[in-house]
Amino acid sequence: MTAGLAAVLAGSRLLPVLTVASAASAGPLADALAAGGARCAEVTFRTPDAERVVKAMVAHGALTVGAGTVLTAEQAERAVAAGSQFLVSPGLDDEVIAKAMELRVPVVPGVATASELMRALKAGFDTVKLFPAEPLGGTAMLRALAAPFPQARFVPTGGIGPDQLPAYLRHPSVLAVGGSWIATPGHLERGAYDEIRRLTAEAVERTAP
Ligand code: 3PG
Repeated sequence: MTAGLAAVLAGSRLLPVLTVASAASAGPLADALAAGGARCAEVTFRTPDAERVVKAMVAHGALTVGAGTVLTAEQAERAVAAGSQFLVSPGLDDEVIAKAMELRVPVVPGVATASELMRALKAGFDTVKLFPAEPLGGTAMLRALAAPFPQARFVPTGGIGPDQLPAYLRHPSVLAVGGSWIATPGHLERGAYDEIRRLTAEAVERTAP
């Protein structure tokens, strides 16, 4: 991961994870996130429109936009071609990592165990997504996993909501927290952009030390 992305994540402390069914939502969604104070977003590659959503959100210009749920080298290639400024994967995949390095795009691989974290560190990645953070044990798991690896920086994601956010962010090894609660597919279906702005602003407020 480049220092640039680490700085964006450390500055933002919040990574909205977005699963967007239609590219028509991208503009108002980016408006709402930016108005609420978000600085970056992860667009998951779980919908057929994901590439168009990335393109539209990058063109919008207010946010640093990455691609999430990147499971294969081919998806990594498409994500970068669409303009993704970083990649996130739920797991540690050698082909995804190699493709991201070839394309010179920062990637945050996912880990769930000490062995996976050791592999990530060995491959040169000191910033990882801890996934799925809450089912793995939440902040207790994070504290235990982080203790032997002071060089590692975490982006815990998975099952986290506004109530858990401050506790994760208090851990010195946490760069930012990811989550989908800020803008769910339900919000997008209802066009609930005011609610997205409100949830973003509430979360941003909770990132304050
Ligand atoms: C992800 O892809 O990072 C997760 O699905 C986000 O987890 P959450 O939906 O529980 O926030």
